[in-house]
Amino acid sequence: MPQSPHRLPPDPSGIARAAALLRAGKLVAIPTETVYGLAADARNDAAVAAIFDAKGRPSFNPLIAHVADAAGAQALVDWPAEAERLAAAFWPGPLTLVLPLKPGHGLSPRVTAGLGTLGVRVPDQPATLALLRAFGGPLAAPSANPSGRLSPTTPEHVIAGLGPRVSAVLDAGPCPVGVESTILALDGAPHLLRPGGVPVEALEQALGTPVAATGADPARPQAPGQLASHYAPQAALRLDATDWRSGERRLGFGPVDCDLNLSHAGDLREAATNLFPHLHALDDGTHVIAVSPVPRHGLGLAINDRLRRAAAPRGKAGRTA
Ligand code: TXA
Ligand code: MG
Repeated sequence: MPQSPHRLPPDPSGIARAAALLRAGKLVAIPTETVYGLAADARNDAAVAAIFDAKGRPSFNPLIAHVADAAGAQALVDWPAEAERLAAAFWPGPLTLVLPLKPGHGLSPRVTAGLGTLGVRVPDQPATLALLRAFGGPLAAPSANPSGRLSPTTPEHVIAGLGPRVSAVLDAGPCPVGVESTILALDGAPHLLRPGGVPVEALEQALGTPVAATGADPARPQAPGQLASHYAPQAALRLDATDWRSGERRLGFGPVDCDLNLSHAGDLREAATNLFPHLHALDDGTHVIAVSPVPRHGLGLAINDRLRRAAAPRGKAGRTA
């Protein structure tokens, strides 16, 4: 039996152990406010290669660099006024900024998949912030799931998906936000690459300008998370279900009779937190999962985005993050 990863407590001893493993080039699953990340030293080429290998992730799909604070980001990327304003408003928090790479950044070229831009974020998770400070450098971390599968919001999801490919899991329990970070490109006029934990309306308010959704060409996605099939359970999904059919697993939203409810009260924040755990729980690989309609504003944009990708026809090319 291959060994399962060590679970490290989110205390000074666990954080010191996680930092030592990362310095030694190992992979450590880290909690964030959004989902668990599969972290490696972003400057260590072999360690970053091991992330792609463990996930089965195509090498063209770039990774987000996690840093302790805005100064950590400024060491890696150009820093326009919009970045300053958004970082002040939303970091630490579920916002990734894509900015032009700065010369001398020192990152493994695999992190950016050869692009001239880098996604950076400061996660709002106390143990991981302490780890970033103890480690003293950027950590490359995609979501800690096999490529194309549901994102992990608990240590149990990470262990079930990646098992012994991870040296350790820093265990801080379930992730409170539950959907991945919002990705905003700032290499030009601000545009949204992925809806996520910060509602786009909040970004527009902070910037004082509308944020365009990227005119994505699905064949050549700017954020490969935009590929149609993504975040997929084993089972098929039926979206915007207003009736329940026999043999289906029923994922509700609002005051409906169902197997699991994203939010009985119709609260989008609660629904985001419950999205991946409920999909993991209902996914037995055979029964169709029918999902109630979820409003398409605020966090509902990210929820609908993940549901749409989870429901899309599966192609090998679609399984990328
Ligand atoms: O909340 C999150 O963002 C989580 C936690 C662990 O931080 N991370 C996450 O990483 O969702 P990942 O790799 O599963 O998704 C990152 C997305 C991918 O779709 C990738 O293509 C895109 O970000 N991305 C990364 N760097 C990019 C860049 N320079 N330009 C465009 N897209 C980029
Ligand atoms: Mg992912």
